[in-house]
Parts: sequence; C-alpha cells; structure tokens
Amino acid sequence: LSRHPLGSFESHRGGLWESVRHSSSSPKVALLGASGGIGQPLGLLLKQDKLIANLALYDVVNTPGVAADLSHIDTNAKVSAYTGSGELHAAVEGADVVVIPAGVPRKPGMTRDDLFNTNAGIVRDLVAAIAKASPKALIAIITNPVNSTVPIAYEVLKKAGVYDKRRVFGVTTLDVVRAQAFVAELKGLDASKTTVPVIGGHAGITIIPLLSQVKPATKFTDDEIKKLTPRIQDAGTEVVNAKAGAGSATLSMALAGARFTNALLRGLKGENNVQCSYVASDAVKGVEYFSTPVELGPNGVEKILGVGKVSAYEQQLIDAAVSELNKNVQKGVAFVK
Ligand code: NAI
Repeated sequence: LSRHPLGSFESHRGGLWESVRHSSSSPKVALLGASGGIGQPLGLLLKQDKLIANLALYDVVNTPGVAADLSHIDTNAKVSAYTGSGELHAAVEGADVVVIPAGVPRKPGMTRDDLFNTNAGIVRDLVAAIAKASPKALIAIITNPVNSTVPIAYEVLKKAGVYDKRRVFGVTTLDVVRAQAFVAELKGLDASKTTVPVIGGHAGITIIPLLSQVKPATKFTDDEIKKLTPRIQDAGTEVVNAKAGAGSATLSMALAGARFTNALLRGLKGENNVQCSYVASDAVKGVEYFSTPVELGPNGVEKILGVGKVSAYEQQLIDAAVSELNKNVQKGVAFVK
C-alpha cells in the first residue's frame, strides 16, 4: 500500500507533505475556530503536516466531533479538543504556533471591514489568552478584517507586556495562491512552479499583486495587468458571491493557511524560508503594517525583505493603499485603547 495518497500535492514551494529529515521537538499547533468553514479543512491539512506533533482544536462549539473525526486519520499528529473559553488556556498553553480563523465571514454585499464589530472582540480575547498561556507562540491571524485584526493583536500583546513584533502574522497567503493560480491559467504556466508576490494588505485596493516580479519571468500587456490586478483584488468577493450567502473562501483558505503554518514551523526549526505576510513593518513609508516578502526563521520574522523593484503602476497602487491601510490600522489600535 502506498503511504503517500496526497503526494501529488507536493510542490517546490515546500508543500505540506514534503518529507522531513530531522525530527523536531514535538511542535504544538493550536487552531482557534477549528469547527468552522475554514477550521475543519485546515485541521484536516494540519493533521497531515509531518512537522506537527500536537494539534489542539479550539472553538466555542462542536470541537469534540471534529477532533474525534480527525483523530482517526493515520498520521502522527496527536489531536485534542477544547471547547469554550474555560478551556482556551489549556488549548493554547505551550503552543509553538497559534492559527486563528475564528469569527464570522462575509455575505454578499459586505466588505471585510463590515466584520470588524464582531471579529475585533473575538481576536482581542483570543490573543489575550495567548499572551498569558503561550506568550512566545507565533500567531497567524486569518480572521478578517486582517488589516485591523493584526494591529489589534499587537496592541493586546503590548498591553500584556509580551509584545514582540516578529511573532504576529496576518495570513495573506490566499492572495498569493490566487495570484499564482490566475497568472498560471492566463499564461499557460505550471501553477505549481509559478510565484507571484502579493504585498500591501488583505482587502480591496490594499491587495497589490506584483506582476512585474512573477517567476518564471513573464511579460504582461497593459491590458492584461489592468484586468488581472482587480481580479486578484476582488477574488474573495468572487467566492462570496458564488457561495451566495453560505460564506466566503474556506477550501482555498485552508490550503493557504496550512501552507503558511508549515512555513512558520520550518522557520522555527531553522529552515528559513520566504513568505508574504502582513506584519509590523518599515518597508513602506507612512504606514506601520504592510505585507511584503519576509524571511521566516526561529524567531518568526527574521528579516523584512521589502517591496523590491516595482513598476510605475505598482507604485501607484502602493501609494493608494497606504492611506486606506492607515485607516484600518487606526481602527484596530483605537479598539484596544
Ligand atoms: P465560519 O463562520 O464558518 O467559522 C468560524 C468559526 O469560528 C465557527 O466555528 C465559530 O464557532 C468560531 N468562533 C466564533 N467565535 C469564536 C470564539 N470566540 N472563539 C473560538 N471560535 C469562535 O467562518 P469561516 O468561513 O471559517 O471564516 C472565518 C474567518 O476567516 C472570517 O473572519 C473570514 O472573513 C476569514 N477569512 C480570511 C481569509 C484570509 O485570506 N485571511 C480568507 C477567507 C476567510
């Protein structure tokens, strides 16, 4: 019998299922929001990540069922279930990485910012618990609006006196995944070997695909750039509308979240690697948080690699994103203060 049913998903990007040469010291990942539309398929993918020894599933409902189901999969990650705020501390205690997809998703007609009122408080309370139980954990935030929930997390950690700007990440990997899928489709490239940096933030015009930096080197006409850029920016809305009230991206987001979690874990064990992520950053003047390629390593963010060489069109997009991002950041900061 083959033990690698998912082998075809392996990719050069350091996919989830690459073989692991060194055994690591039983890393623990806590998944908060584990029963949700993203949480369940993300748990499924994390259960197959060979870098994870312990997978703690936390949600306010339904965690025992999800955990029982996942625990029957014949991979080594040990699955445990925690339900409700009384069990949150135990869920995150000793975690190396905490991944947060807890919170409500968009319905047609909503922007990500419309989720602020519900999700801001959820992220604040979860991060406050992490600050106590696992202050050294790397925190990967999926919950929208990411542009604001990441600053919220920083402010909560600051208040708790455990602030380390290298350890909080807004997960923007789905924007990268989408950009790579769309570019590969348009240009007839091998999607698994196409890389597209996406910088800025994770909402509307703050999402900035750098088509000038696509690898393998690819030429786009102005017309292609002007069609592809908004498609990547609005790809989330494409899914929200197609799901017609049943939520937003969950399956592609689960893949993106699992890929990013794996990258954090590889970094922790000294396999430094580069990913785009929305973090506290001095890469762009006039804004405190920005997504660019960052080098991940044993401390989380080891190095902000910056935006690199961009086209005049991309520079315009960056300039337009800055004021929007500042509003999103201020809203998050004000919420905690
Ligand atoms: P969902 O509603 O299907 O699942 C959310 C889960 O969070 C539910 O199981 C719910 O019980 C749980 N939850 C609610 N309050 C909680 C709390 N205080 N503690 C722990 N768990 C709690 O939503 P879905 O589709 O999984 O989306 C989750 C979030 O991810 C949304 O905010 C959505 O906007 C965001 N998202 C982010 C993306 C990104 O690229 N960063 C892409 C797609 C969605």
